[in-house]
Amino acid sequence: MRLVEPTMEWKEEHENYVKEWGNTRLVPSSFNLEGFETYESFLEALRVRQSGQGKWVPGSDYFLVNDDNRIVGMVNIRHELNEFLRQVGGHIGYGVRPSERRKGYATLILKEALAKCKELNINPVLVTCDEDNIGSAKVIIKNGGIEDESFLDEDGSIKRRFWIEN
Ligand SMILES: CC(C)(COP(=O)(O)OP(=O)(O)OC[C@H]1O[C@@H](n2cnc3c(N)ncnc32)[C@H](O)[C@@H]1OP(=O)(O)O)[C@@H](O)C(=O)NCCC(=O)NCCS
Repeated sequence: MRLVEPTMEWKEEHENYVKEWGNTRLVPSSFNLEGFETYESFLEALRVRQSGQGKWVPGSDYFLVNDDNRIVGMVNIRHELNEFLRQVGGHIGYGVRPSERRKGYATLILKEALAKCKELNINPVLVTCDEDNIGSAKVIIKNGGIEDESFLDEDGSIKRRFWIEN
């Protein structure tokens, strides 16, 4: 298993991955292909976003890829926190494709993302999840997450917030 950056060679695999999510909201949203006419334009927009423009803070994005070159998960690392990220989003967002869930991949992707955070001197790392996302809370706790106060969003939803010493 390894983390790789999105490039042209992953076009087809990325498209298949997104299809598998069907109507459910793709997480992290930075990998959404909707609205892009070509994969090149998606990659270009991703690079702009990663450099920290407009409402985006600087970031990195990786696929978690297995030995058969299948993308099993995706992760977006935010290098800084703004008000929204401090309350709701945190430093790291991740998702695993539906057919590969409950196999430990989210636990692994967060571990690998924490290693990337270490290289970037991001410490402590904030990771959040929806109150009803039991799987994600387990992933965070297994990676050393210590729970802080939750945040009540305008829409009434509650975000659980965890800090990880890195
Ligand atoms: C949440 C998500 C990332 C979990 O991925 P995963 O690869 O299935 O997680 P893991 O296999 O590493 O599971 C970690 C633990 O959570 C448990 N778990 C995973 N999904 C669960 C679920 N839906 N309900 C209850 N427990 C769950 C696993 O059994 C495991 O527990 P264990 O350590 O006691 O065995 C995945 O379901 C997903 O991509 N969901 C949609 C996007 C999302 O919610 N992302 C997180 C945003 S904060």
